[in-house]
Amino acid sequence: MGGLTVRAAVPEDRATVVELLTRSWRGVTVVAHGVRYQADTLPALLAERAGTTVGLLTYHLDRDGLEVVTIDAPVPGTGVGTALLRAAAEVARTAGAGRVWLVTTNDNLDALRFYQRRGMRISAVAPGGVDAARRLKPGIPLVGQYGIGLHDELTLTLDLDPAR
Ligand SMILES: CC(C)(COP(=O)(O)OP(=O)(O)OC[C@H]1O[C@@H](n2cnc3c(N)ncnc32)[C@H](O)[C@@H]1OP(=O)(O)O)[C@@H](O)C(=O)NCCC(=O)NCCS
Repeated sequence: MGGLTVRAAVPEDRATVVELLTRSWRGVTVVAHGVRYQADTLPALLAERAGTTVGLLTYHLDRDGLEVVTIDAPVPGTGVGTALLRAAAEVARTAGAGRVWLVTTNDNLDALRFYQRRGMRISAVAPGGVDAARRLKPGIPLVGQYGIGLHDELTLTLDLDPAR
């Protein structure tokens, strides 16, 4: 499917960002690896097709690399996630960061497949990481996708080739 573009979000996109985050994450607060992010205040990439927003990625960039805090394609399987991840890697490279990384959860088998098919490697596993996050954000459900108990965090990392 063509016509897909990705651009950096600007302040005028705030309402769109909040709406997408709320739909996917039950609010703008995201807790991962013990850190609470207010994701609507993070830098973001918006995917658009024919003027309509079709995906959102928020990130945090520091000396440790570019962390993808959220990535969402409300209609999955049309190339949006791939385009967002590629754009995030470009942002990281431009900033001189050595890696793109993110935390996902033990139930998210579709995302685990998606990330690994795009070259990311499992770089850490935190048993009970989601249980700890739930103490900070009690709305996190006890049971996740495929009826799998939601307990653990997995870190996935894409090392960026400095030669590219
Ligand atoms: C995971 C996600 C970001 C992937 O984005 P996407 O736009 O669906 O991905 P693309 O269309 O670029 O790529 C499709 C690939 O993703 C896989 N995929 C992952 N989840 C899928 C889903 N629910 N439906 C269809 N395909 C899915 C497909 O198998 C396909 O894999 P392949 O090309 O390697 O064979 C998106 O499905 C999504 O938003 N999921 C819900 C939110 C979420 O879990 N975010 C990640 C939290 S860590």
